[in-house]
Amino acid sequence: MTSGNDKGAPQGEARPSRAAGLQVKQIKAIRGTRDLLPDQTPLWNRVEATARAVFARYGFGEIRTPVIEATELFARGVGEETDIVSKEMFTWEDRARAASEKPQSLTLRPESTAGVVRAYIEHKMGETGALQKLYYIGPQFRRERPQRGRYRQFWQIGAEVIGPPSSGSESPLRDAEVLEMLASLLDELGVRGWRLELNSVGNAEDRARYNTALRDALAPVKAKLCPDNQRRAETNPLRVLDSKDEQDQEIINGLPKIADYLGDDSREHFHQVLSALDACGVPYHVNPRLVRGLDYYTRTTFEFTVQTGLGTQNALLGGGRYDGLSEMLGGPKAPGIGFAIGEDRLILTLQAQEDLDSAGTGKTPEPPKLDAYVAPLGVERNAAALALARELRREGLTVEVGDGTFKLRKSFEIADRVARAIVLLGEDEIAASEATVKTFATGEQRRVARAGLADVLRQR
Ligand code: HAM
Repeated sequence: MTSGNDKGAPQGEARPSRAAGLQVKQIKAIRGTRDLLPDQTPLWNRVEATARAVFARYGFGEIRTPVIEATELFARGVGEETDIVSKEMFTWEDRARAASEKPQSLTLRPESTAGVVRAYIEHKMGETGALQKLYYIGPQFRRERPQRGRYRQFWQIGAEVIGPPSSGSESPLRDAEVLEMLASLLDELGVRGWRLELNSVGNAEDRARYNTALRDALAPVKAKLCPDNQRRAETNPLRVLDSKDEQDQEIINGLPKIADYLGDDSREHFHQVLSALDACGVPYHVNPRLVRGLDYYTRTTFEFTVQTGLGTQNALLGGGRYDGLSEMLGGPKAPGIGFAIGEDRLILTLQAQEDLDSAGTGKTPEPPKLDAYVAPLGVERNAAALALARELRREGLTVEVGDGTFKLRKSFEIADRVARAIVLLGEDEIAASEATVKTFATGEQRRVARAGLADVLRQR
């Protein structure tokens, strides 16, 4: 017999089969991706709920953009010469399915800012004249070398503030407000010891002057650089600054600093961002080397780092202003600023902090127990048990149902582990419209009328 699944099997070769007692090859999650199991997801949900609540307080609305975008969006938006676009994207030629379609190059999004700005342009969101405050929570994909805090599928919690210049989108107040919101969010989540580093990478003219200075400084030393940096020195010298090549660091450290190439406008803008942060009492450190690895940044750029839990991948989040991105993508003038938190890294940080806190007590928090475990006494009672569980759940109780094949002792063992009470359902109970309830905390066991059962189970 052949099935669809057999199509790819080599002809004439013995296929592994369970019947023959041979091992069937196990399929595992692909490199750099992870399963988040139910003992981990409560923390993820708590983080996301807190982020949503904080975003709502600041007037942000949620945006959901596709995970797949045209490759050109990232090539143009993030920049051809960035590590992300040149090495890390999951890109493929998508073939046409019909005569009306054209084959096209598609990419799993490596970040969401380009997609959000594409959506802003596509839906003419600037035409309202209002400032758009958008947030997103979702997976991103980069083919990086996996290590702690660095995955090929990872989650970001991000936000973007974008609008026509008349909406105040260019104001340094927006930058400071975004940074203040992040400080509040991290505090509310309980992240300790965060450090905000920020810089200004100037406007387009400042960048052009700085690029010329970098090119001039790189020209005499270019031959000593690694091949990647030799290429970048020609095409996009700013990217040389992100290089992690060990041997090139000495040359990189001696290159001109962008702070010396900022024009008056950029300098004043940055000064106002810092003054507003001072007024709010948000601590920061100016880091003149912080240029960030994406090409769309202008003026303010920033990162929050932490010391606990992340090792070398200590950037918890990054962001900045991107005043020319909309035009680069064919849209209207729409200055903007935003950030993305690496949610995986945020979780690792919180877990590491929890481990530190519980060190010495040796306690890991127990998952919450269900209100009831319904145990049918015999398979004939299974259907009635399910019906009872349905009623109790509809009254808002958390309930698990056992199985009539289980011995009483087994039912009690499971119930004691997962629930605060066991509800026994036998022939007698069903006939009398009752149930037997045992509450584990008190050890009390009694028959209860079904009408009052939910109330009894709610008592703690
Ligand atoms: P990014 O710095 O490329 O910026 O990423 C932001 C954050 O995502 C990083 O600080 C890090 O926490 C996390 N992250 C990045 N790559 C990985 C990875 N492979 N595994 C785990 N976490 C990772 C952006 O993506 C910009 N779109 C941020 C932005 C929004 N700028 C303006 N608006």
